[in-house]
Amino acid sequence: MTHSIRTQVAIIGAGPAGLLLGQLLHRAGIDAVIVERVSGEYVLGRIRAGVLEQVTIDLLEEAGVGERMHREGLVHGGFEMMYGGLRHRIDLQALTAGKKVMVYGQTEVTHDLMNARRAAGLPTYYEATDVQVHDFDTTHPRVTFKQGDQSFELACDFIAGCDGFHGVCRASVPPGAIREFEKVYPFGWLGLLADTPPVHDELLYVNSPRGFALCSQRSKTRSRYYLQVPLTDRVQDWTDDAFWQELRLRLDDATCAGLVTGPSLEKSIAPLRSFVTEPMRFGRMFLAGDAAHIVPPTGAKGLNLAATDVKYLSNALIEFYQEHSEAGIDSYSARCLRRIWKAERFSWWFTTLMHRFPEDSGITARFQEAELDYLLHSHAGSTSIAENYVGLPLDFAERSL
Ligand code: APR
Ligand code: PHB
Repeated sequence: MTHSIRTQVAIIGAGPAGLLLGQLLHRAGIDAVIVERVSGEYVLGRIRAGVLEQVTIDLLEEAGVGERMHREGLVHGGFEMMYGGLRHRIDLQALTAGKKVMVYGQTEVTHDLMNARRAAGLPTYYEATDVQVHDFDTTHPRVTFKQGDQSFELACDFIAGCDGFHGVCRASVPPGAIREFEKVYPFGWLGLLADTPPVHDELLYVNSPRGFALCSQRSKTRSRYYLQVPLTDRVQDWTDDAFWQELRLRLDDATCAGLVTGPSLEKSIAPLRSFVTEPMRFGRMFLAGDAAHIVPPTGAKGLNLAATDVKYLSNALIEFYQEHSEAGIDSYSARCLRRIWKAERFSWWFTTLMHRFPEDSGITARFQEAELDYLLHSHAGSTSIAENYVGLPLDFAERSL
């Protein structure tokens, strides 16, 4: 027997994009059902970046989940970049007329959104199998899935594909209707999480002859560090000691002196990729977040881009239901992509500036040093980094220049 359910918006994926969309729609009186492939615990086990731009902070507040973020999140008015063994500060606040970022892990954001959804009694089907999207080229799309031995059919007005890079929504679009742009980088990031005080109270991005390193954090007592590693490296071959030793080799003596090491809570290797799908709307199905685009993590734009897609999408759906206008739906893809390409450009550029490239004869490293020397000693150069790092305003592409 198949259980028939009816909702206005079927959301595929309960990552930050799907959960935030569900929350914004709920607050506007629009009902949505979320269908997620894995369990809630599994979703919470994924460790990802956690630097929130002001637009993301505002959106989480708007969604009613800002309370713990404001209590526990760490406000950062700057960050540091190191090259040639010297540290330079990018003063975000001074360079962007007072803008800041908030360090608050994606896991915490997801946790807050999950709690809010549970408290409001909104339906989420976790551990759904065989999820399929149908008829999104008509006004009556459907989603079918199984949970245990039960079968479900979800009739809806719209499908929101918030199902990440490996999701089913993008894969269900006919190949002729979609164009994909992709760049895979010749290295990965080995990340280590530890309950040790961060080496510095701000983030430190390091360009060293041995490769990129990042000193990040989750709280005053929890650190997150990354090392650029060859794609052929396997995480099981990296002991904690080897990690700390390599990190030390990429830092200057003064920073090393303040580094507190300890056992890892988590270690993993992530590949780096730039990826964009055009368009992001297919009839009555929309893609949002990692389902439509991936950025390399240098610059921490992934979660912020997912949040702004969801902002545009929730606005478009609210306009549809409340004002019977399809204007927002029609412009969704173009508006998102204009913003996405700017963040893709920044993430690609920042990655290229800070990493060592395996095939380099040495000239790329010299170009990087010259560029860093220019950027960090030029007001215009530093302002450009700061403006992109805190995030371009939501209406950036719409303002006349
Ligand atoms: N059916 C249902 N759910 C699915 C399916 C499927 N076929 N395939 C994937 N999913 C789920 C995944 O299990 C995951 O929980 O969709 C969710 C997608 O979540 P994320 O990958 O976290 O993507 P998104 O919500 O867009 O968040 C973007 O994640 O990778 C980071 O840098 C990125 O921070 C950004 C954020
Ligand atoms: C992280 O803390 O995981 C992090 C921070 C900044 C980045 C990337 C990752 O640019």
